Amino acid sequence: MDVVEFIARSEAVCFSNGWTADDIRAELESGCGVCCTEEGIGYAIGRISFDEAELHRIAVLPEKRRSGAGERLLRHFLDECGKKGAVKVFLEVRSKNLSAVRLYERCGFMRIAVRKNYYGDDDAVVYAFTFSDDVKNDQFRV
Ligand SMILES: CC(C)(COP(=O)(O)OP(=O)(O)OC[C@H]1O[C@@H](n2cnc3c(N)ncnc32)[C@H](O)[C@@H]1OP(=O)(O)O)[C@@H](O)C(=O)NCCC(=O)NCCS
Repeated sequence: MDVVEFIARSEAVCFSNGWTADDIRAELESGCGVCCTEEGIGYAIGRISFDEAELHRIAVLPEKRRSGAGERLLRHFLDECGKKGAVKVFLEVRSKNLSAVRLYERCGFMRIAVRKNYYGDDDAVVYAFTFSDDVKNDQFRV
């Protein structure tokens, strides 16, 4: 199974508004896509533009959850963004999605805004992760 097929199948299982294979292909072929996958387990996809990145989707298949895969994928995604020059990574999540909210906060994301009733039945919470100066300095040290 290729990456696009794996993600499309997982989207159908993990989200009520899952991305199609075409959506995923467009994201990955945009030239600024960042994608980390563990086939058969989960994935994290987003975009980077100049020094800002955005996490669009992260999901772990239901039977593989609560064993650290989400955190591993998120840290891998942050690592890839850092290597590509990101200074900040943003994301938006439903306030009631507590497993995701806890994951983001555990990995160092800070809550920066709340969009009231953004989803109709829920608020959107905007989070930002800032790479520390030390990490950036280490990265570019020669
Ligand atoms: C959000 C999501 C990606 C988290 O994935 P996950 O693999 O379960 O994440 P982790 O295993 O790293 O952490 C989840 C919990 O398991 C716990 N955990 C991790 N390893 C564990 C282990 N070995 N034994 C027991 N518990 C463990 C974590 O402490 C965490 O607990 P908490 O929720 O009480 O803080 C997953 O729930 C998911 O795919 N949800 C549906 C899609 C979604 O909503 N995505 C986010 C919006 S795009």
